[in-house]
Amino acid sequence: MAEEPSILVVGSINMDLLVRSPRTPQPGETILGNNFKTLPGGKGANQAVAVARMGGNCKMIACVGKDTFGEQLLENLKDEGVDCDAVTVTPFAPTGVAMIVVDSIGENTIIVAGGANSRVTPDDNIYPNEELFANSAVVLLQLELPLPTVLAAIKMARKHGCKVILDPAPAPRNIPEELCMVDIISPNVSEAEIITGMKASPEERPDKQIASELIARGAKVAVLKLGARGSLAVDCDGHFYTVPSYKVQVEDTTGAGDAFTGGLAAAIARGDGLHNAVKFANAAGALACTQIGAQSAIPTADEVKLLMEDQPT
Ligand code: RIB
Repeated sequence: MAEEPSILVVGSINMDLLVRSPRTPQPGETILGNNFKTLPGGKGANQAVAVARMGGNCKMIACVGKDTFGEQLLENLKDEGVDCDAVTVTPFAPTGVAMIVVDSIGENTIIVAGGANSRVTPDDNIYPNEELFANSAVVLLQLELPLPTVLAAIKMARKHGCKVILDPAPAPRNIPEELCMVDIISPNVSEAEIITGMKASPEERPDKQIASELIARGAKVAVLKLGARGSLAVDCDGHFYTVPSYKVQVEDTTGAGDAFTGGLAAAIARGDGLHNAVKFANAAGALACTQIGAQSAIPTADEVKLLMEDQPT
C-alpha cells in the first residue's frame, strides 16, 4: 500500500499544567480551583498528534529540555506514532510549560513559558533538516517558536514545493508580512482580529471581510475558526465556504483549534478538496471540546467520520 504523504510539524512541545476554576481570577485575587492535571500539550505537539490520530504520516522538528517533562513528552509523541528523530534535547533550557485555567463553561486562558521551544533555531533545526522538508507534502507551523525559525521553515518549505499551513497562534501584534504569504492560514477570531486590525462580529459579513483581508495579505486560502459558529474558508479566487458547527457537549476548549488545524492538514495531505477538508477539521475541533485537556481530547479519524455521519452538514 502507498505510504500517506508526510506532514512535517515544526512547532512547540509543552507540559500543560491545567486547573479547573469557577472563573478567571481578577488581578491580586486568589480563588479556589480543582481537578489539577499535568497533560501533554504545546500547539506543535498537539497538531502532530492530531495529524497522527487522523491518519497522517507525521514527523516533527522541535526541542525539549533535558528533564523529566521532556522525557515524558517525547515518549508520549513516539507512542502516538509521531517520528521524533528531529526533536532535539537541550541541557540549556527547561521543557516548555503552559499554565492553563479552564472556567465553568469550558473556556480557557493560557500562559506559556516557552523554555526549550525558544532554542529551535534556523541553524540548529531547520537547515540541517532540509531532507525532511524535501520529503514532505505539507509543512504545518504555529507561532510558539521564535519568528526567525518559522520564517526559515516557510522558506525551506517553499524551496521544496511543500504546502505550508500556518496556524498563527499566539498571534503577535505586528506580524511580519511574509507570515501571511502561505498556502493556508487558519487563525481563530481573536488571532484574525490582531493580525488584520479588523473587528469581528457575530454576523457573516465582517467574517468574510476579515478572511478576504488575509487573502489580500498574500494567503492563498484563509480558514477562520469561529468556535461555536463553525468556520469560514475563502480561497484566492474569491470562493467562500461556510461550515456550520457540530453540536457537542463542551467540557474544555483547550486544544480544539489544534485538533482543527491538525485535522485540516491530514485532510489536505490526503487530497481532500478545501470544503471537505474544512468540514472534517470542524468535526475534529468539535470533538476535542468534549473532554478535558489538549492531546487527551483529540479524536481519531473514525470518531470524526462518525460525528460527520451523525450530523451531516
Ligand atoms: O492550543 C493549546 C495549547 O496551547 C496548549 O496545549 C498549551 O501548551 C499551549 O501551547
